[in-house]
Amino acid sequence: MPAASCRKRGHAMSDSFTRWRQEEEQRLLATYSKFPFALARGEGMRVFDVDGKAYLDFYGGHAVAIIGHCHPHLVASLTRQIGELIFYSNLCYLPVRAQAAEKLLRLLYPEMARVFFVNSGAEANEAALKIARRHTGRERVVAMQGSFHGRTIATLSVTGMDKYRNAFVPTIAGATDFVPFGDMAAIKALDPAGIAAVILEPVQSMAGAVTAGGEYFRALRDYTRRHGIALIFDEIQTGLGRTGLPFAGMHWGVAPDIVTMAKGIGGGIPVAACALTEQFTAGIKIGDHGTTFGGGPVACMAVKATLEVIEQERLVEHARAMGELLAARLAEVPGVADIRGMGLLVGFALPRPARDIQSAMVAKGVLVGVSVDPRIVRLLPPLTVGEDDVDVLVRALKEVAQ
Ligand SMILES: Cc1ncc(COP(=O)(O)O)c(C=O)c1O
Repeated sequence: MPAASCRKRGHAMSDSFTRWRQEEEQRLLATYSKFPFALARGEGMRVFDVDGKAYLDFYGGHAVAIIGHCHPHLVASLTRQIGELIFYSNLCYLPVRAQAAEKLLRLLYPEMARVFFVNSGAEANEAALKIARRHTGRERVVAMQGSFHGRTIATLSVTGMDKYRNAFVPTIAGATDFVPFGDMAAIKALDPAGIAAVILEPVQSMAGAVTAGGEYFRALRDYTRRHGIALIFDEIQTGLGRTGLPFAGMHWGVAPDIVTMAKGIGGGIPVAACALTEQFTAGIKIGDHGTTFGGGPVACMAVKATLEVIEQERLVEHARAMGELLAARLAEVPGVADIRGMGLLVGFALPRPARDIQSAMVAKGVLVGVSVDPRIVRLLPPLTVGEDDVDVLVRALKEVAQ
């Protein structure tokens, strides 16, 4: 964010912030419009800038800090792991990798049999698309208008947002059919014979927390199974308890063939995963896929420790209760409309552009997200969020909404 816009939005800029902003802007490729502060540390629901100002993080560190910032169990586990072994690749067996996979499979859909660890959400989706093509022997993919699956060329090919894709067309030429999210008839109108996969997010988060409902997902599951099409759920935002159940399809009794996870799976350490059923595992041979860093010991310790916290602190149940509370409390804010989403992935509108709301909230020390829909403010707090935090959020929103 240029200096002028920071000032315009009423943020007093300290010398230390100005310095760090300039240092980054001189040396880094500018691809993000940034918050007007430089961060020094985080603890639980809060992050602190270089001047010591606290921000209550309802954007959850970009949907990543699912167990809060710097959870003590994660910090201790990682510190121990770093002292023992920082890295070796998939060429070696690692006890911590097996333990992370075992814990993840226990939380996942019971239909899932195998896990492949990678480093980012886009890579998890790349792996899912490759596996679907390998398994079906087909090439085409059906994806949703309004979807977001990553920034690599293959994942942009199935991303249904013009804003991200159009500058890079042709992506993977002609390989994707985009259909409206929630429209089963549009999928049935396509010839199923050449379709390898349908890929979709159970809740379209970047589009503004858009949902489609159980009837659609059940019909999609029946149709894809009948035609031998892989059903891929991108649960990069909805997985790991965010929606109030471990994975979103569980709300509707629908399990995909392949599911991808990233964001909070390692509590902030870059790690992601792709899981698949036994049926889809068949046919994957040594050499079909690979990664140097995916499944390394630090990343796997991060997954193991994060899942331990989710289990020990019963964060999935907590997320469900807090999601209900959050939606009810948001309804108290004058002018609020269109509250949507699931659990702790929440969107809503106020009678001002979402970016203005975001700037005004930052000035009050509360971080919220925006979306591709200019009206929709998005909340993705840590699953550890408490009632007191919701009080602070709602109070600030009421002031901002006036
Ligand atoms: C639903 C979804 N899929 C895929 C991705 C891409 O993940 P990453 O940025 O880790 O590559 C994101 C990132 O925001 C996402 O929200």
